[in-house]
Amino acid sequence: MSRVAIVTGGTRGIGRAISEALKAEGLTVVANYAGNDEKARVFTGETGIPAYKWDVGDHQACVDGCARVASEVGPIDVLVNNAGITRDATLLKMSFEDWYDVMRINLGGCFNMAKGCFAGMKERGWGRIVNIGSINGQAGQYGQVNYAAAKSGIHGFTKALAQEGARFGITVNAIAPGYIDTDMVAAVPENVLEKIVARIPVGRLGHAEEIARGVTFLCSEHAGFVTGSTLSINGGQHMY
Ligand code: CAA
Repeated sequence: MSRVAIVTGGTRGIGRAISEALKAEGLTVVANYAGNDEKARVFTGETGIPAYKWDVGDHQACVDGCARVASEVGPIDVLVNNAGITRDATLLKMSFEDWYDVMRINLGGCFNMAKGCFAGMKERGWGRIVNIGSINGQAGQYGQVNYAAAKSGIHGFTKALAQEGARFGITVNAIAPGYIDTDMVAAVPENVLEKIVARIPVGRLGHAEEIARGVTFLCSEHAGFVTGSTLSINGGQHMY
Protein backbone atom coordinates (compact mmCIF):
# COMPACT_ATOMS: atom_id res chain seq x y z
CA MET A 1 0.00 0.00 0.00
CA SER A 2 1.41 3.38 -0.92
CA ARG A 3 1.56 6.12 1.67
CA VAL A 4 -1.24 8.67 1.74
CA ALA A 5 -0.37 12.37 1.53
CA ILE A 6 -2.55 15.43 1.91
CA VAL A 7 -1.47 18.81 0.54
CA THR A 8 -3.42 21.85 1.72
CA GLY A 9 -3.98 24.47 -0.94
CA GLY A 10 -2.93 21.61 -3.18
CA THR A 11 -4.77 22.43 -6.40
CA ARG A 12 -2.94 25.63 -7.43
CA GLY A 13 0.49 27.24 -7.44
CA ILE A 14 3.18 25.70 -5.26
CA GLY A 15 0.61 23.32 -3.76
CA ARG A 16 -0.28 21.89 -7.14
CA ALA A 17 3.39 21.26 -7.95
CA ILE A 18 3.78 19.50 -4.59
CA SER A 19 0.68 17.34 -5.17
CA GLU A 20 1.95 16.29 -8.57
CA ALA A 21 5.51 15.65 -7.39
CA LEU A 22 4.36 13.46 -4.48
CA LYS A 23 2.13 11.51 -6.85
CA ALA A 24 5.08 11.02 -9.21
CA GLU A 25 7.00 9.57 -6.23
CA GLY A 26 4.29 6.90 -5.90
CA LEU A 27 2.27 8.33 -3.02
CA THR A 28 -1.52 8.39 -2.97
CA VAL A 29 -2.22 12.11 -2.91
CA VAL A 30 -5.25 14.11 -1.83
CA ALA A 31 -5.37 17.86 -2.38
CA ASN A 32 -7.33 20.14 -0.08
CA TYR A 33 -8.61 23.49 -1.34
CA ALA A 34 -10.80 26.23 0.06
CA GLY A 35 -12.30 28.36 -2.66
CA ASN A 36 -11.94 27.89 -6.37
CA ASP A 37 -14.20 24.96 -7.37
CA GLU A 38 -13.57 25.40 -11.08
CA LYS A 39 -9.77 25.29 -10.73
CA ALA A 40 -10.09 22.26 -8.43
CA ARG A 41 -12.30 20.44 -10.96
CA VAL A 42 -9.79 21.11 -13.76
CA PHE A 43 -6.93 20.04 -11.46
CA THR A 44 -8.58 16.69 -10.68
CA GLY A 45 -9.39 16.15 -14.36
CA GLU A 46 -5.79 16.80 -15.38
CA THR A 47 -3.98 14.99 -12.57
CA GLY A 48 -6.38 12.31 -11.31
CA ILE A 49 -5.78 13.65 -7.78
CA PRO A 50 -8.99 14.02 -5.74
CA ALA A 51 -9.69 17.46 -4.28
CA TYR A 52 -11.42 17.91 -0.92
CA LYS A 53 -12.90 21.28 -0.02
CA TRP A 54 -12.61 22.87 3.41
CA ASP A 55 -11.14 25.97 5.04
CA VAL A 56 -7.92 25.15 6.90
CA GLY A 57 -8.64 28.12 9.15
CA ASP A 58 -11.70 26.26 10.50
CA HIS A 59 -10.56 23.89 13.23
CA GLN A 60 -13.50 21.49 13.19
CA ALA A 61 -13.54 21.39 9.38
CA CYS A 62 -9.91 20.21 9.44
CA VAL A 63 -10.50 17.53 12.05
CA ASP A 64 -13.59 16.28 10.18
CA GLY A 65 -11.88 16.58 6.78
CA CYS A 66 -8.85 14.54 7.87
CA ALA A 67 -11.15 11.85 9.30
CA ARG A 68 -13.07 11.76 6.02
CA VAL A 69 -9.88 11.39 3.97
CA ALA A 70 -8.67 8.65 6.31
CA SER A 71 -11.87 6.65 5.87
CA GLU A 72 -12.31 7.25 2.12
CA VAL A 73 -8.66 7.10 0.97
CA GLY A 74 -6.59 5.75 3.87
CA PRO A 75 -4.82 6.92 7.00
CA ILE A 76 -2.79 10.08 6.38
CA ASP A 77 0.99 9.49 6.55
CA VAL A 78 2.19 12.76 5.03
CA LEU A 79 0.84 16.25 5.70
CA VAL A 80 2.02 19.23 3.69
CA ASN A 81 0.74 22.49 5.20
CA ASN A 82 0.94 24.70 2.15
CA ALA A 83 -2.31 26.71 2.17
CA GLY A 84 -1.77 30.41 2.64
CA ILE A 85 -3.09 33.82 1.72
CA THR A 86 -1.70 37.35 1.60
CA ARG A 87 -3.47 40.55 2.67
CA ASP A 88 -0.60 42.99 2.16
CA ALA A 89 -0.82 46.53 3.55
CA THR A 90 1.31 48.71 5.76
CA LEU A 91 0.33 48.56 9.44
CA LEU A 92 -1.70 51.76 9.49
CA LYS A 93 -3.78 50.60 6.51
CA MET A 94 -4.15 46.99 7.66
CA SER A 95 -7.51 46.08 9.17
CA PHE A 96 -7.87 43.69 12.06
CA GLU A 97 -9.60 41.26 9.66
CA ASP A 98 -6.53 41.32 7.36
CA TRP A 99 -4.32 40.53 10.33
CA TYR A 100 -6.60 37.88 11.77
CA ASP A 101 -7.43 36.04 8.52
CA VAL A 102 -3.76 35.61 7.68
CA MET A 103 -2.96 34.33 11.18
CA ARG A 104 -6.04 32.08 11.24
CA ILE A 105 -5.38 30.52 7.83
CA ASN A 106 -1.60 30.52 7.42
CA LEU A 107 -0.57 29.68 10.99
CA GLY A 108 -3.81 28.35 12.49
CA GLY A 109 -4.18 26.04 9.50
CA CYS A 110 -0.95 24.24 10.44
CA PHE A 111 -2.21 23.62 13.96
CA ASN A 112 -5.66 22.53 12.78
CA MET A 113 -4.33 20.07 10.21
CA ALA A 114 -1.69 18.66 12.55
CA LYS A 115 -4.47 18.02 15.08
CA GLY A 116 -6.27 16.04 12.40
CA CYS A 117 -3.27 13.88 11.43
CA PHE A 118 -0.77 13.58 14.28
CA ALA A 119 -2.54 10.99 16.45
CA GLY A 120 -2.81 8.53 13.55
CA MET A 121 0.84 9.03 12.60
CA LYS A 122 1.84 8.42 16.22
CA GLU A 123 -0.23 5.22 16.38
CA ARG A 124 1.39 3.89 13.19
CA GLY A 125 4.90 5.02 14.22
CA TRP A 126 5.63 6.95 11.04
CA GLY A 127 4.79 10.38 9.70
CA ARG A 128 6.04 13.31 7.69
CA ILE A 129 4.86 16.88 8.19
CA VAL A 130 6.22 19.65 5.97
CA ASN A 131 5.14 23.23 6.65
CA ILE A 132 5.58 25.85 3.96
CA GLY A 133 7.01 28.95 5.58
CA SER A 134 8.52 31.86 3.69
CA ILE A 135 11.59 34.01 3.25
CA ASN A 136 9.34 36.77 4.54
CA GLY A 137 8.90 34.89 7.82
CA GLN A 138 12.69 34.80 8.16
CA ALA A 139 13.60 38.30 6.99
CA GLY A 140 10.36 40.28 7.31
CA GLN A 141 8.82 42.23 4.44
CA TYR A 142 7.54 45.79 4.21
CA GLY A 143 3.72 45.65 4.03
CA GLN A 144 3.40 42.18 5.55
CA VAL A 145 3.30 42.33 9.34
CA ASN A 146 0.49 39.75 9.24
CA TYR A 147 2.08 37.35 6.75
CA ALA A 148 5.61 37.68 8.18
CA ALA A 149 4.31 37.00 11.70
CA ALA A 150 2.31 33.97 10.59
CA LYS A 151 5.17 32.52 8.54
CA SER A 152 7.66 33.18 11.31
CA GLY A 153 5.23 31.39 13.62
CA ILE A 154 5.28 28.41 11.28
CA HIS A 155 9.02 28.11 11.78
CA GLY A 156 8.58 28.01 15.58
CA PHE A 157 5.64 25.61 15.29
CA THR A 158 7.83 23.31 13.18
CA LYS A 159 10.66 23.15 15.70
CA ALA A 160 8.33 22.55 18.66
CA LEU A 161 6.30 19.83 16.94
CA ALA A 162 9.50 18.18 15.65
CA GLN A 163 10.54 17.64 19.26
CA GLU A 164 7.17 16.07 20.07
CA GLY A 165 7.11 13.83 16.99
CA ALA A 166 10.70 12.54 17.01
CA ARG A 167 10.18 9.54 19.28
CA PHE A 168 7.16 8.39 17.29
CA GLY A 169 8.92 8.35 13.91
CA ILE A 170 7.27 11.60 12.84
CA THR A 171 9.52 14.23 11.27
CA VAL A 172 8.42 17.85 11.06
CA ASN A 173 10.27 20.26 8.80
CA ALA A 174 9.72 23.56 7.05
CA ILE A 175 10.57 24.93 3.66
CA ALA A 176 11.07 28.66 3.29
CA PRO A 177 10.43 29.57 -0.33
CA GLY A 178 11.61 32.85 -1.74
CA TYR A 179 9.71 34.60 -4.53
CA ILE A 180 8.19 31.92 -6.78
CA ASP A 181 6.39 32.55 -10.09
CA THR A 182 2.84 31.94 -8.81
CA ASP A 183 -0.38 33.99 -8.83
CA MET A 184 0.47 35.20 -5.29
CA VAL A 185 3.70 36.81 -6.41
CA ALA A 186 2.13 38.05 -9.66
CA ALA A 187 -0.18 40.15 -7.44
CA VAL A 188 2.78 42.18 -6.12
CA PRO A 189 2.88 45.59 -7.87
CA GLU A 190 5.21 45.39 -10.86
CA ASN A 191 7.57 48.17 -9.74
CA VAL A 192 7.92 46.53 -6.30
CA LEU A 193 8.52 43.08 -7.81
CA GLU A 194 11.23 44.41 -10.14
CA LYS A 195 13.15 45.68 -7.12
CA ILE A 196 12.74 42.35 -5.34
CA VAL A 197 13.98 40.31 -8.32
CA ALA A 198 16.99 42.64 -8.59
CA ARG A 199 17.98 41.45 -5.09
CA ILE A 200 17.88 37.72 -5.98
CA PRO A 201 21.45 36.58 -6.75
CA VAL A 202 20.21 33.79 -9.05
CA GLY A 203 18.53 36.56 -11.05
CA ARG A 204 15.02 35.19 -11.47
CA LEU A 205 11.89 34.07 -9.67
CA GLY A 206 11.81 30.47 -8.51
CA HIS A 207 9.58 27.80 -9.99
CA ALA A 208 6.97 25.89 -8.00
CA GLU A 209 8.60 22.60 -9.03
CA GLU A 210 11.80 23.71 -7.28
CA ILE A 211 9.89 23.89 -3.99
CA ALA A 212 8.15 20.59 -4.69
CA ARG A 213 11.53 18.81 -5.06
CA GLY A 214 12.45 19.86 -1.54
CA VAL A 215 9.12 18.60 -0.23
CA THR A 216 9.48 15.18 -1.85
CA PHE A 217 12.90 14.78 -0.26
CA LEU A 218 11.65 15.72 3.22
CA CYS A 219 8.69 13.33 2.84
CA SER A 220 10.80 10.41 1.66
CA GLU A 221 11.95 7.34 3.57
CA HIS A 222 15.54 8.68 3.27
CA ALA A 223 14.84 11.80 5.34
CA GLY A 224 14.17 10.13 8.70
CA PHE A 225 17.09 11.91 10.38
CA VAL A 226 16.04 15.35 9.16
CA THR A 227 13.66 16.99 11.60
CA GLY A 228 13.05 20.47 12.96
CA SER A 229 14.95 21.94 10.04
CA THR A 230 14.15 24.69 7.58
CA LEU A 231 15.19 24.35 3.97
CA SER A 232 15.50 27.77 2.33
CA ILE A 233 14.86 27.75 -1.42
CA ASN A 234 15.15 31.39 -2.44
CA GLY A 235 17.81 31.85 -5.14
CA GLY A 236 20.21 33.23 -2.53
CA GLN A 237 17.99 36.21 -1.67
CA HIS A 238 18.33 35.60 2.07
CA MET A 239 21.11 33.46 3.51
CA TYR A 240 19.98 32.42 6.94
N1 CAA B 1 11.04 49.62 2.03
C1 CAA B 1 10.92 50.93 2.36
N2 CAA B 1 9.92 51.70 1.94
C2 CAA B 1 9.00 51.15 1.14
C3 CAA B 1 9.08 49.80 0.74
C4 CAA B 1 10.16 49.04 1.20
N3 CAA B 1 10.30 47.75 0.87
N4 CAA B 1 8.02 49.53 -0.05
C5 CAA B 1 7.31 50.68 -0.15
N5 CAA B 1 7.91 51.65 0.56
C6 CAA B 1 7.46 53.03 0.72
C7 CAA B 1 7.08 53.64 -0.61
O1 CAA B 1 8.20 54.13 -1.29
C8 CAA B 1 6.16 54.77 -0.16
O2 CAA B 1 6.96 55.83 0.31
P1 CAA B 1 6.49 57.35 0.13
O3 CAA B 1 5.18 57.47 0.86
O4 CAA B 1 7.59 58.14 0.75
O5 CAA B 1 6.36 57.54 -1.36
C9 CAA B 1 5.47 54.15 1.04
O6 CAA B 1 6.26 53.08 1.47
C10 CAA B 1 4.11 53.62 0.67
O7 CAA B 1 3.47 53.28 1.84
P2 CAA B 1 1.92 53.04 1.88
O8 CAA B 1 1.48 52.74 3.26
O9 CAA B 1 1.22 54.16 1.14
O10 CAA B 1 1.82 51.71 1.08
P3 CAA B 1 0.96 51.34 -0.19
O11 CAA B 1 -0.47 51.43 0.17
O12 CAA B 1 1.47 52.09 -1.38
O13 CAA B 1 1.32 49.80 -0.39
C11 CAA B 1 2.49 47.73 -0.07
C12 CAA B 1 2.49 49.26 0.16
C13 CAA B 1 1.12 47.09 0.10
C14 CAA B 1 3.42 47.16 0.95
C15 CAA B 1 3.00 47.47 -1.50
O14 CAA B 1 4.23 48.10 -1.65
C16 CAA B 1 3.19 45.98 -1.75
O15 CAA B 1 2.26 45.28 -2.11
N6 CAA B 1 4.40 45.47 -1.56
C17 CAA B 1 4.71 44.06 -1.82
C18 CAA B 1 4.88 43.36 -0.54
C19 CAA B 1 5.39 41.96 -0.86
O16 CAA B 1 6.53 41.76 -1.23
N7 CAA B 1 4.54 40.95 -0.69
C20 CAA B 1 4.94 39.63 -0.98
C21 CAA B 1 3.80 38.89 -1.60
S1 CAA B 1 4.30 37.30 -2.23
C22 CAA B 1 4.54 36.39 -0.85
O17 CAA B 1 4.31 36.78 0.24
C23 CAA B 1 5.06 35.00 -1.08
C24 CAA B 1 6.26 34.74 -0.29
O18 CAA B 1 6.20 33.99 0.67
C25 CAA B 1 7.53 35.33 -0.73
